[in-house]
Amino acid sequence: MVKRNVILKSSISGLLLCVLLFAYPIQDDVLYENIPKLNGNCPPGFMLNTQNECIAQNLYMQYSTSNNPGVGGLKTGLPKVRDGFSPQKIDLGRYLFFDPVLSGDGTISCATCHNPNKGFSDGLPTSIGMGNYPLKRAAPSLWNVAYLRLFYWDGRASSLEEQMKGPLFSKDEMNNTPENLINTLNSIENYKHLFAEAFPERNAQRPIQLEEVYMAITAFEASLVSLNSKYDRYAHGYHEALNQKEIAGMNVFRSFVARCAECHTPPLFTNQQIAIIGTPEPNGLPLDPGAEVPFNDRSLRGGFKVPSLRNIEKTAPYMHSGKFKTLRETVQFYTDGRGHAVPEDENLIIHWHIWEPELSDDELDRLVDFLKTLTDESFIPKTPKILPSGLKPSV
Ligand code: HEC
Ligand code: HEC
Repeated sequence: MVKRNVILKSSISGLLLCVLLFAYPIQDDVLYENIPKLNGNCPPGFMLNTQNECIAQNLYMQYSTSNNPGVGGLKTGLPKVRDGFSPQKIDLGRYLFFDPVLSGDGTISCATCHNPNKGFSDGLPTSIGMGNYPLKRAAPSLWNVAYLRLFYWDGRASSLEEQMKGPLFSKDEMNNTPENLINTLNSIENYKHLFAEAFPERNAQRPIQLEEVYMAITAFEASLVSLNSKYDRYAHGYHEALNQKEIAGMNVFRSFVARCAECHTPPLFTNQQIAIIGTPEPNGLPLDPGAEVPFNDRSLRGGFKVPSLRNIEKTAPYMHSGKFKTLRETVQFYTDGRGHAVPEDENLIIHWHIWEPELSDDELDRLVDFLKTLTDESFIPKTPKILPSGLKPSV
């Protein structure tokens, strides 16, 4: 009896010992095992070539990218795209994008403000950074950024790599430093494995480099493609894709009275230029000088990059200041008269396409119907359930 008890006790304590010995030291390894190998397939919308590069594929490639897209006829090509990243770089970028370990205190990821479930925006009038710091502008959507040449509302960055240094290293946003970011990543076994897998051309023992972080996140952002909306099906010749109200809205959108397509030119729904349209700031806030500052040009005061309107239904509130809550309010702005919301002491050079179209209520409703045909989230990427850092995805 006594003997049995001892055996029982010792096997229980042996079991406990095993649990203690294995559970703790193994934790890191277990985590790595839970992170699958990086995806070797391209995301939807891309084809893998023999050099292991994902090349964008879409129906717009059958049309020429005309030098003069005008107001974006239906069968018009897209601008040049940023593609050619390996599937592994794209997948590594996906982990980094969702991982709050990229921020100074491990609380904020890119996806906090660019949440895939909110059209890659955050649903706020203006974003909130580290320590609840209120930012001055709204988070733009990231759909189709692979086609853009200018970034930020005021166009102050000209590549995705350059842009992301803003949030990463600004004390109001993710509040990290280049040194701390790279040291943190190099201290995480999972990331060392994953970077070696995504960058096989270099020595696997070499520490992770900042340029690799920028490239992987760029690869992921450039994979966010939305080109399969009802509008797109109509544009490629399937006429039943839009109903009568939506077609009526499209006709207003492209008309020389409303002039929307002059700036929001299909198929990207932006001509990628800076335009001064005179949108209001939230009550009590001074005018946002916009592009005047980065371009050091007084004539650009109050100018903002024309935003793409794809998935616009998903990214309320609207404009750089998040001033308008609904699409109806936003389109109403355009018919309330040129310069009506500009402060009296400002003398902005409002764009010549902003005029007094005197659109009827019915036309405004139809415009909203049309804008909703630009919704397509069929290629939405998966939010990782578990992150290489062991932190929780912050979306
Ligand atoms: C705290 C919220 C916040 C975080 C975190 C954040 N962003 Fe942003 N992002 C914004 C805001 C706000 C803007 C617009 C700022 C402006 O125009 O001045 C923006 C702009 C952008 C743009 C420009 C899009 C365009 O159409 O011009 C890109 C691209 C972008 N962010 C990517 C990222 C990436 C990648 C990360 C992570 C490394 C990130 N953001 C982290 C809020 C955030
Ligand atoms: C002269 C160029 C121009 C014309 C014409 C124009 N827009 Fe815009 N649009 C812009 C700019 C610039 C912004 C961003 C302004 C800001 O944030 O203050 C914008 C913003 C928007 C937004 C909000 C986008 C977002 O992400 O918040 C919508 C919706 C919109 N426009 C729809 C329209 C419609 C509908 C028409 C036609 C009635 C139109 N626009 C005509 C330049 C133009």
